[in-house]
Amino acid sequence: MTDQKRIESEVREANEFFRNLISSSVDGIIAADMKGNIFIFNNGAENLTGYTAEEMIDRIHITKLYPEGVAKEIMKKLRSPEHGGVGKLNPSQLNLVSKKGEEIPFQLSAALIYDSEGKETASVGIFTDLRPRLAMERKLEQTHMQLVSSEKLASLGKLAAGIAHEINNPLGGILIYASLMLEDLPPDDDKRQDLARIIQEAGRCKEIVKSLLEFARQSEPRMEPVDINLTITEGLFFLENQAFFHNIRIIKNLEPSLPFARGNASQLKQVFMNITVNAAEAMHGSGTLTIATSFNRGRRQIVIEFTDTGEGIPEENLTRIFDPFFTTKAIGKGTGLGLSTAYGIIEGHGSKIEVKSKVGVGTTFTIPLAPYPETQPIAEGHSGAAA
Ligand SMILES: Nc1ncnc2c1ncn2[C@@H]1O[C@H](COP(=O)(O)OP(=O)(O)OP(=O)(O)O)[C@@H](O)[C@H]1O
Ligand SMILES: [Mg+2]
Repeated sequence: MTDQKRIESEVREANEFFRNLISSSVDGIIAADMKGNIFIFNNGAENLTGYTAEEMIDRIHITKLYPEGVAKEIMKKLRSPEHGGVGKLNPSQLNLVSKKGEEIPFQLSAALIYDSEGKETASVGIFTDLRPRLAMERKLEQTHMQLVSSEKLASLGKLAAGIAHEINNPLGGILIYASLMLEDLPPDDDKRQDLARIIQEAGRCKEIVKSLLEFARQSEPRMEPVDINLTITEGLFFLENQAFFHNIRIIKNLEPSLPFARGNASQLKQVFMNITVNAAEAMHGSGTLTIATSFNRGRRQIVIEFTDTGEGIPEENLTRIFDPFFTTKAIGKGTGLGLSTAYGIIEGHGSKIEVKSKVGVGTTFTIPLAPYPETQPIAEGHSGAAA
């Protein structure tokens, strides 16, 4: 082999090597002459833009890859000393226009190439797809926001519990002294009405304090076998005797041989009562509330359903009713903690409250619960269903 031939073969090999180097880069590499005609368009550039090298090289002008005016701006920056030195462009975030016409965010680092006399002959850019990174950043941001809001809720709960606890004692004082004064007043004293009002309002404060404390309670409930029918009946016993329930028909369709549920009886009673009170409020004191229990053998689930003939819940509120402090009731009437407390309790039981509603027709709340694994179905006649 002559020297001449050896040199030629070495040049060819070196060229081949550089071509491979460029084409195997994950990042897009694009080079264009000073007129904007593309002469290098690697695999990475094809993946990023959706154009093939064949379509681009010597055919499509480099400015077509950018939104209007951007290519010119890049050249200006390349020639200025301010963006990494004359002939250089430090990594910058830009958009390119893909073959489909989408704008794709990418990072560009670019340089001008000079000939031996210092004349500009070409520009070359390295294009990094920013979509995966931006998507990850968005996800991180979302997770962060969720964390912040659940932390907020937790510390709000602690704050509320602290305040509620402190208010409880003076409130007790107000109630006791007002009651004592009321006892001392003669039956025809016209201050009696005012005092009764004080007692009534202080009683309401106590109720609010109680629900705040319940809402904030974060301790794990003790799980035991619970007779669901009995728990429902006990909860109703409290409510049925109140004046507000006198014109409400309550139908109990309780499955007599329901297995025990795995749960905490006093917490579950509270859930049933909250839902029952809501139903009565939605029916404005008259209507029908149907409470049904059943056992779904296929799913091995106890199912408890509360169906009312109340005003219903508009679709846009369905996702909000379980939020703490969400209420549609008048100021002073509802705190908006009933359902969020109930939701938290049922979540603590490893389940979820479901709701279906039709405005003007009524609402059904469904609570699925797991049976207590070790126990058999309750013998007929033993449970609250007999009541
Ligand atoms: N059975 C129902 N029918 C129609 N709307 C309901 C029903 N149950 C709940 N809601 C709606 O959900 C909202 C939130 O209920 P939630 O029990 O959490 O708070 P509240 O009843 O307003 O106040 P609180 O229970 O703290 O006294 C209610 O204000 C009401 O708009
Ligand atoms: Mg309520």
